[in-house]
Amino acid sequence: MGRGLMGAVLMYLGPSEHGTPRFVRRGRRFSRISTLQFSLWVFVFAAIFLLYFIFFGLTMLSTDENENEESAVIPVKVESSRTDGGSKHRRKYTPCDVPLKESVDYFKEPREVMNFTQFSLEYIDQEEKLPTSNIYEPRFGGHPTLEEREQSFYAVNQTLHCGFVNGPPGSSSTGFDLDMKDKAYMKDCKVAVSSCIFGSSDFLRRPTSRKISDYSKKNVCFVMFVDEESLAKISSEGHFRDDTGHIGLWRIVIVKNLPYADMRRTGKVPKLLSHRLFPSSWYSIWVDSKMRLNTDPMQIIEYFLWRAKSEYAISNHYDRHCVWEEVLQNKRLNKYNHTVIDEQFTFYQSDGLTKFDSSDPNTPLPSYVPEGSFIVRAHTPISNLFSCLWFNEVDRFTSRDQLSFAYTFLKLKRMNPDRPFYLNMFKDCERRALAKLFRHRAELSPPVT
Ligand SMILES: *[C@@H]1O[C@H](CO)[C@@H](O)[C@H](O)[C@H]1NC(C)=O
Ligand SMILES: *[C@@H]1O[C@H](CO)[C@@H](O)[C@H](O)[C@H]1NC(C)=O
Ligand SMILES: *[C@@H]1O[C@H](CO)[C@@H](O)[C@H](O)[C@H]1NC(C)=O
Repeated sequence: MGRGLMGAVLMYLGPSEHGTPRFVRRGRRFSRISTLQFSLWVFVFAAIFLLYFIFFGLTMLSTDENENEESAVIPVKVESSRTDGGSKHRRKYTPCDVPLKESVDYFKEPREVMNFTQFSLEYIDQEEKLPTSNIYEPRFGGHPTLEEREQSFYAVNQTLHCGFVNGPPGSSSTGFDLDMKDKAYMKDCKVAVSSCIFGSSDFLRRPTSRKISDYSKKNVCFVMFVDEESLAKISSEGHFRDDTGHIGLWRIVIVKNLPYADMRRTGKVPKLLSHRLFPSSWYSIWVDSKMRLNTDPMQIIEYFLWRAKSEYAISNHYDRHCVWEEVLQNKRLNKYNHTVIDEQFTFYQSDGLTKFDSSDPNTPLPSYVPEGSFIVRAHTPISNLFSCLWFNEVDRFTSRDQLSFAYTFLKLKRMNPDRPFYLNMFKDCERRALAKLFRHRAELSPPVT
């Protein structure tokens, strides 16, 4: 019975945030313990106590069972994983203080916050066969010419490429196909928190339910985009959708017919194009699947957008500030085909990208390298334009969006000197205070922590 119970406990802790290595460590500890009878019984009692605690904690404290179950266990996981990390590393990247409002149970439209730049954007949803070529392959990002690309940077009324481009009538879908019911649901969201798991690259991490206000639970859409493979994996780990398609707070939205073979690039669709996926939303928050949201979304919006009078907020990188360094790092870790990185980087240098100069008091950004795992946006015209332009770079060049962020921002700014874009680049330590960072399930190269 003890073995079975411990097995259950191990299984429960098993699909932990750090993946296989932690599971192995626990297994080893278990076999050591099992040689000592006394320790075994202590462990069994502790396990029973833990299970009781989880069970009663969950029935008493919350209506959202699974959430509490998870949060009851997190401290245990965190404690044990702390012992192997380098303490120097931890101290360097600790969260900093983020003075959030006590509670934010009201709404402000972006135009109530600030006189943001106004113009009207429309998106190309269908392309004809190009007159210049007789081979035409419809693709999700379309086929913007360099001239169209150049024009698209002007913050004026325009119709531009921004993903979701289909071929002529009769051609097959270019991908990112969603169920009608999900589309209908997403169409009505005013505030969206979203994330994605494609190619089983990560565990499902639910927002910490007790930190999310009732107001947000009622008014904010939490959407997790997954492909079928990832959903199968998530289910095999014991997370099942309820009748309304939710797992905890996440509404699981299945994406069929992925637009790119590169899962990273596919992940950029929900990451960068939330204004397309949630067409009537005023605000969106992107949370990478390696993070667990620990903070109420309305408090986040109040702090990063309303209070900062901003329409786009993203954190800087914890370490690198210059795109030159980022390029080197991407090559060092073999993040992408070096030739293609060079093509992109050479192009950017020929089009005005300069090195980051921290000594320049007029530097337009506190860093040229973002840590894009957490993005807070108002869906204002220039914020949406920036998102489209950034996505188009990821579609045209490498899927490494940290390489194209500063270029896109600086070019947008340069080409619209009279039309401000209020981008709030905040500190990485603030991001850490709001969402807990874990390692990806499947990261071939060293994790970003
Ligand atoms: C809003 O901005 C426009 C120009 O961008 C300016 O003409 C106008 O006076 C501003 N209005 C307010 C209320 O600040
Ligand atoms: C841009 O579009 C808006 C809304 O459609 C319209 O009111 C405005 O006149 C347009 N501006 C120009 C310069 O065409
Ligand atoms: C990298 O990309 C270039 C140009 O697209 C291609 O010729 C080359 O084979 C690629 N290299 C690798 C290792 O995939």
